Amino acid sequence: MSEHTPRVAVVTGATSGIGLAVARALGARGHRVYLGARTAENVATTVKQLREEGLTVDGSPVDVRDGAAIRRFVQAAVDAFGTIDILVNNAGRSGGGVTADIADELWDDVIDTNLNSVFRMTREVLNTGGLREKTWGRIINIASTAGKQGVVLGAPYSASKHGVVGFTKALGNELAPTGITVNAVCPGYVETPMAQRVRAGYAAAYHTTEEAILEKFTAKIPLGRYSTPEEVAGLVAYLASDTAASITSQALNVCGGLGNF
Ligand SMILES: NC(=O)c1ccc[n+]([C@@H]2O[C@H](COP(=O)([O-])OP(=O)(O)OC[C@H]3O[C@@H](n4cnc5c(N)ncnc54)[C@H](OP(=O)(O)O)[C@@H]3O)[C@@H](O)[C@H]2O)c1
Repeated sequence: MSEHTPRVAVVTGATSGIGLAVARALGARGHRVYLGARTAENVATTVKQLREEGLTVDGSPVDVRDGAAIRRFVQAAVDAFGTIDILVNNAGRSGGGVTADIADELWDDVIDTNLNSVFRMTREVLNTGGLREKTWGRIINIASTAGKQGVVLGAPYSASKHGVVGFTKALGNELAPTGITVNAVCPGYVETPMAQRVRAGYAAAYHTTEEAILEKFTAKIPLGRYSTPEEVAGLVAYLASDTAASITSQALNVCGGLGNF
């Protein structure tokens, strides 16, 4: 099969930021993209927008914290485009605070949204999505540099993303003989609506302005700037290509040098 074999891809959290850039990048490479997020209106708007750009896209609302919703979503993807070749687990949320003050609800929601969802969506795509029967496949999990290094005031987020990296490595080794690769992409600071919410949270915690937080964060990045969603999507698209067949069980950063491993 050639580098440009059209595949069926599923992308979660694809109405904003990194997920939207990933859906666009995969669509632009000729793949049929089925996308989801919780807000139905945003899913409809995104599908319409990407179709207007000439891409083959469909989608439906899904809350990745809900197993039944995941089942319906994956079945709908198969009904729309056929069995699934590429899964990008991107949906996620920020969340943290002073650890001694974190409520169970916040902890559980971050773990459900960022980690449990990755297991459940992956299992559903392997079964209902037909991926476990295939000899070619790509599972790409959007983790974070916070999945390799601890982030102050981000214990639930860091724990969830370390979990995603661990899941990725274990499943990558398990599936390696099958032709299905499993990798994590670890963005550093990427300019998206989530990044804005994160800056607002730290500004409140440190009693300062969002501008001061932006300056503090930017100063930590050797490249001197945030990464773009398109830069993250570029690595995802590469990992989804035939050439990336020998890259598996890895956690690769797109972070302007913020992370060193
Ligand atoms: N931005 C960064 O600096 C950065 C850095 C490292 C890693 N990341 C990771 O990259 C991924 C995308 O982040 P982003 O910055 O692009 O965020 P974003 O702009 O806030 O977009 C998040 C997307 O996920 C969807 N989503 C959120 N919760 C969901 C749920 N429970 N079920 C289904 N969809 C859900 C959102 O739509 P709805 O709200 O409508 O559901 C939206 O489409 C996340 O996993 C994040 O942890 C981001």
